[in-house]
Amino acid sequence: MKFFVDTADTAAIKELHEAGLVDGVTTNPSLIAKSGRDFKEVIKEIAGITPGPVSAEVASLEYDGMVAEGEHLAKIAKNVVIKLPLTLNGLKATKHFKDAGIQTNVTLCFSANQALLAAKAGATYISPFIGRLDDINLDGMELIENIRTIYDNYQFETQILAASIRSPNHVTEAALAGADVATIPPDVIKKLVNHPLTNSGIDGFVKDWAGTGQSIL
Ligand code: E4P
Repeated sequence: MKFFVDTADTAAIKELHEAGLVDGVTTNPSLIAKSGRDFKEVIKEIAGITPGPVSAEVASLEYDGMVAEGEHLAKIAKNVVIKLPLTLNGLKATKHFKDAGIQTNVTLCFSANQALLAAKAGATYISPFIGRLDDINLDGMELIENIRTIYDNYQFETQILAASIRSPNHVTEAALAGADVATIPPDVIKKLVNHPLTNSGIDGFVKDWAGTGQSIL
């Protein structure tokens, strides 16, 4: 499973990229607002940090506006992926970009039927929002499983990008359910490394090694 980082925080992206943990990046209007920075500047900087796909979301809800904004964003760098909402206009724009050879990420997916439509429109990625479904007492992971089954039944090439990931458990479950990609906030990626037995094991080895009085170099 590929790891995308779900953030517009370029320092966090750099740090994780240096650890080899970044296969791509996703942003959204809320993350851009949180960064307090100019949208296009941030996307350009991120696209220079990672050669992987960088999702940049259109703001318009109209087809013509989505196409104009998406074409503008796509010119920022070759690895920019146009993120479009799961509406009829968004699907039309997805088809437009597919025909133009520009990659797309169809976002705000909350049902298997929506995912089926995105695949038929030719989306590169579909983003089912796990955490937001869990927030309203539905089962986000069941949606990933259902989309996996449907895409496999018909050999759709659209990649399942598990989004709205909130915890290490979400990451494990998305991998078990067969998501192609998980887009994960930096703090959750850092939590994946933690295990109390690793920490206590290191403490024991450090103590015993000190007792040998030896040095490796
Ligand atoms: C995905 O592309 C979105 O940016 C993101 O995963 C949304 O997560 P949230 O529901 O925690 O805001």
